[in-house]
Amino acid sequence: MGRMNQSEQKRLAARTAVDALFSEGKIFSGMKIGLGTGSTALPAVERLAELLAQGSLRDIRAAVTSLQTEIACEGLGIPVYSLNAGAIGGRVDLTIDGADEVDPGNHLIKGGGGALLAEKITAYNSRSLVIVADQTKAVDSLGTKFPVPVEVIPPARVPVINALRDLGASPAVREAAKKCGPVITDNGNILIDCLWRRPVDPEKMETLLNGIPGVVENGFFTRLRPTVFIARGDGAVERREAQP
Ligand code: A5P
Repeated sequence: MGRMNQSEQKRLAARTAVDALFSEGKIFSGMKIGLGTGSTALPAVERLAELLAQGSLRDIRAAVTSLQTEIACEGLGIPVYSLNAGAIGGRVDLTIDGADEVDPGNHLIKGGGGALLAEKITAYNSRSLVIVADQTKAVDSLGTKFPVPVEVIPPARVPVINALRDLGASPAVREAAKKCGPVITDNGNILIDCLWRRPVDPEKMETLLNGIPGVVENGFFTRLRPTVFIARGDGAVERREAQP
């Protein structure tokens, strides 16, 4: 097989994961499923819609993590519920999502697409988490190359920036592309992207960041042990199981 580009790898990882999980009975009719956000999660949503359209899968209830995914589900005919709806009851069977970085212990950075808050609430209230990614996302350590997003209420911007500097980060408010000023999340907050000069302990940093007053959530995902599907340029897909 020839070299696959990044977007082909994303699609391959997503479709391979959905097909594997379906054949193993982890994606099943009547289930409650959390659907992530971004250019790797969306092909997984599309593959689910194909399984529904061909009648292999029925009656799934989806909890989405962004307006982007809600709109995609509308177009694909996947029924969407709030996490609070009786049909979901605050907990899903499985969540499938992308990531910005994955370390060898399957710790993650997420939130490059700005949806980290709903993604974390959904992932942490999911019986299992599956991550789909292309090979650029696999790294040795977190925090020095891809900035960790921190979602912050707007009035706390400057004190939070000061506190992030005290934790050794170089913080930058994320600027919007086609709007003047900062990105405003689906929850009305701003994002402060943080890089460190040296790798950080992601488990410790996930807790420390959330201890800063004004921080709503951060993009380290360390308290889960997801199964990760990583597609490579040669067309192979590596499956990394959750560590015990
Ligand atoms: C969305 O906020 C993110 O957590 C995405 O899951 C992550 O940024 C990966 O995005 P892509 O699949 O588009 O690279």
